[in-house]
Amino acid sequence: MSKIKDPKLASKGHLQIEWAQKHMPVLAQIKERFNKEKPFKGTTLGACLHVTKETGVLIETFLASGAKITLCGSNPLSTQDEVAAALVEEGANVFAWRGQTTKQYYWCVDKTLDSNPLITLDDGADLVSTLHNKRPEALQKTKGGTEETTTGVQRLRAMEKAGALKYPIIAVNDAYTKHLFDNRYGTGQSTLDGILRATNILFAGKNFVVCGYGWCGRGIAMRAQGMGANVIVTEVNPTRALEAAMSGYQVMPIAKAAAVGDIFVTATGNTGIIRKEHMQKMKDGAILANSGHFNDEIKPEHLEEIATSRRNIRPNLDEYTLKNGNKLYLLAEGRLVNLVAAEGHPSEVMDMSFANQALCVEHILKAEKMQPKVYGVPKKIDETVARLKLNAMRMQIDNLTSEQKRYLLTWESGTT
Ligand SMILES: NC(=O)c1ccc[n+]([C@@H]2O[C@H](COP(=O)([O-])OP(=O)(O)OC[C@H]3O[C@@H](n4cnc5c(N)ncnc54)[C@H](O)[C@@H]3O)[C@@H](O)[C@H]2O)c1
Repeated sequence: MSKIKDPKLASKGHLQIEWAQKHMPVLAQIKERFNKEKPFKGTTLGACLHVTKETGVLIETFLASGAKITLCGSNPLSTQDEVAAALVEEGANVFAWRGQTTKQYYWCVDKTLDSNPLITLDDGADLVSTLHNKRPEALQKTKGGTEETTTGVQRLRAMEKAGALKYPIIAVNDAYTKHLFDNRYGTGQSTLDGILRATNILFAGKNFVVCGYGWCGRGIAMRAQGMGANVIVTEVNPTRALEAAMSGYQVMPIAKAAAVGDIFVTATGNTGIIRKEHMQKMKDGAILANSGHFNDEIKPEHLEEIATSRRNIRPNLDEYTLKNGNKLYLLAEGRLVNLVAAEGHPSEVMDMSFANQALCVEHILKAEKMQPKVYGVPKKIDETVARLKLNAMRMQIDNLTSEQKRYLLTWESGTT
């Protein structure tokens, strides 16, 4: 049972997934093993992930392992309808289409939970929080789950602290082979891709304001600078602000940046970063985009409040005319610009993120004792993913000699 936009899109979806698969060699190796060993035979998995071609490759990996999988999208606007159709044809249950209302979005989350998943895979923690809030009776039967993104991990840690979390979760985002690459290089490249597809503007010479200099912000700033923009960073964390300054960016509060920026991108995982008092100071023509998980960083309702009119100019680009006559441009309705206006991260980085997902779900399946708390990714899994990726990239590294191994464990030898 599924609900998607149009089953006839399946053939296009298969080609998309095939193209992603070509660039996901680590996951391909895992799929090959899963296909032989069938570790998930008969296991029910429930996933709330952006339905992209890369997610398609992950779902195929689980299908090859013998799992029964139900998938919903983790954002109302990020589903690639052709991928959803292809996955249904391959045997997954999919409840996802692009352009959902919030009510439809949660209906799909509920349908996914109807499959009684033994293990949940989440991106943003909506699946886990809905399960906890609405179906407490099902919690005991849930063995564990994984979480893909920073915001989801933050919510789950808050649940753990409040004693509300009832089953173990592995924070996939915390793996080095996830956030160092996916959040930084993936978000860096795909955020710029989303802004370009929506606007086709020139970055060179523009004042490009990045709100939040975390893993995503670092990537966005680096890539914007690479295209000739003058990057300005806003932060609340003094160490990260200092890091931004020493990386060659201007650092200032948003209240000041608001008046000088041409393009604004939020990536904080926090709420209310760009508010009406900032919008009112902005230059005519300023462009606003969000790459953080929720559409909460730039308040669209603040834009509505201070605007006299709104027009859609082209896909994913809305113009708001303010009372002072200035026009501001909001991309992708303030939702994840890289997934709504572009295609999300390149397959090469999702290869590592989803290899971690696949191996962590297997770890949970095989684990005997896990407590209801948020776990990091086992070091062995993180290192395995790094080694497999290096091999796939045909790169070799050195091995420690026995003298070096000994040396690293001693304290006696110093200056010679
Ligand atoms: N677009 C995507 O595809 C994608 C990919 C990965 C993560 N994310 C999301 O992006 C967001 C950021 O993730 P991250 O891994 O970079 O997190 P992070 O914790 O590494 O960085 C967030 C940064 O924002 C800063 N910050 C918080 N409040 C702020 C404020 N009011 N003003 C300025 N800076 C502020 C924090 O100090 C921190 O340095 C999260 O919501 C995450 O889920 C999106």
